Amino acid sequence: MTKGEETRRLTRLRLVPRLLRTSAFRYTLIYTTFFVLSVVGIGYFVYESTIGQTMERLDEELFRELNHLARVNASAGSDGLVGLNRVNNEVNRLKIVQDNALYLVVYGGPPIRILSTDFINPPREVLNAGPEMFEFDYDARAVVDGVVVTESRPAVGRVATFRYGTPDGKEVRAIILAARDIRDIDQIRQDARNTILRLGSVTLFLGLVLGSIYSGAFLRRVDAIGRTVRAIRDGDLSRRVALTGSDDEFDTLSTNINGMLDQIERLMTGMRQVSDNIAHDLRSPLTRIKARLETAMGDPQADKDEVIERTTMDVERLLATFNALLSITRIESGEGGGSKVPVDVAAVAEEMLELYEPAADEAGFALHGHVERVPDVLGNRELISQLIANLLDNALKYGRRPTETHPAIELTVVPRPSGGVLLSVMDNGPGVSEGDRERILQRFVRLERSRSTSGNGLGLSLVAAIARRHNAQLTIGRGLPHDPDARGLVPPTAYGLGVRIAFPPAPEKPKPSKPASHGALSEAKA
Ligand SMILES: Nc1ncnc2c1ncn2[C@@H]1O[C@H](COP(=O)(O)OP(=O)(O)OP(=O)(O)O)[C@@H](O)[C@H]1O
Ligand SMILES: [Mg+2]
Repeated sequence: MTKGEETRRLTRLRLVPRLLRTSAFRYTLIYTTFFVLSVVGIGYFVYESTIGQTMERLDEELFRELNHLARVNASAGSDGLVGLNRVNNEVNRLKIVQDNALYLVVYGGPPIRILSTDFINPPREVLNAGPEMFEFDYDARAVVDGVVVTESRPAVGRVATFRYGTPDGKEVRAIILAARDIRDIDQIRQDARNTILRLGSVTLFLGLVLGSIYSGAFLRRVDAIGRTVRAIRDGDLSRRVALTGSDDEFDTLSTNINGMLDQIERLMTGMRQVSDNIAHDLRSPLTRIKARLETAMGDPQADKDEVIERTTMDVERLLATFNALLSITRIESGEGGGSKVPVDVAAVAEEMLELYEPAADEAGFALHGHVERVPDVLGNRELISQLIANLLDNALKYGRRPTETHPAIELTVVPRPSGGVLLSVMDNGPGVSEGDRERILQRFVRLERSRSTSGNGLGLSLVAAIARRHNAQLTIGRGLPHDPDARGLVPPTAYGLGVRIAFPPAPEKPKPSKPASHGALSEAKA
């Protein structure tokens, strides 16, 4: 045996106990047991309604015949032997027409006197037989290949017992046995039993074979999935479960597993990108700090206070980056932000408008609010405030074109026709070209022209994470037109940036929302 054959044989051997443990095999075993029981049950029913009935008819026949013989016996009055002689004669008459009939008439005893018999040896069962029909074997002469032999044959019989008083005051017993040879019936009966047994065995065998084939197929599919999962666990993230194309439940499961693996791979790639970005983004401030400190150490004339101040600023930036990253990670893992409660987005928006009014004023922005009554959304109030704050921050930071004399920001909160709430923050600044709109949601992405302003490129990532956390749809698109009088007619580039977040309706019946106050800041812009 070659090494390959040997391992295959061992694998097969190991497969057997595993086959027996599969749920497919256990189910087959249960089905098989039911099938075998049904086959045996049906067999028993057929047996009872054929052989059983024949035996019952025989019983009835013997009962009536014994009654008849008892009447013949009684016709002689109290003289036992005369009566029994009449019975003998009657029995001889009956035997002429019934060739399977057997009789025995005995008197007295012990020792008994046999008055007439069809048996070589009177069957022992007769002496202590009850009133029911009973089965017994008797010896009979037969010719086999020209030789006379004695063989045992099956029979059924019933007995009638009579008692007589003798002149000396004793009691004597007489027994009449009426019996039938049941060789033929017995043969059929044995054949029927064997057939039922064979049917049961074949059903059991087929059930087990089918069960093994079925479980084997089952195991092979499960093993294929297991092998892929193990390969992935061992580091080969590119592996996928092969589909058979049969579109069965295993294919569905495999498709789902493959989808999950795709998602994991995407996340892993994302993570790698993020760590690369972090390394890249933190390296420059850290290098800067190191260089500055080294220069300061080597130069006794250096302005230590300034070094400390600038280093502190750098460290603060680093800390801010770390904190933003941590928040995003916590929100995305579902850990940050606590549990979801009904939040009135309109109220949150009003608050943020109030909070940002001084900053907007100072920067020369017109901050408008258009806040309507909206149904509550299910979420976290702090996270929604954070989301609005990040968007307003960006609008104030990037929403001004050098030529613009009336920079404007508009915060809108309106109910969606399909339920839920639409929140948007728009400005009339330079906007973001279509090609960059997806990109700016990624961590650490800052557009070239924004390099001069401070920031980590994490604000919109946090907005996206908060939106995802609320199952809200985030779209980055056009904002306010550069020329407010030319709405609809201006080229697509003549708009600022608009960020829209569509919150889904809360699953429960939304409770009546509080009336939104329409203060000076929240006046709708026409
Ligand atoms: N309203 C806007 N108008 C024009 N460009 C924008 C606007 N908002 C964001 N951007 C661009 O998208 C980039 C990413 O924004 P994001 O808020 O994620 O980071 P950031 O503002 O640069 O830094 P941080 O928010 O972490 O302080 C910005 O650097 C800017 O280039
Ligand atoms: Mg920002």
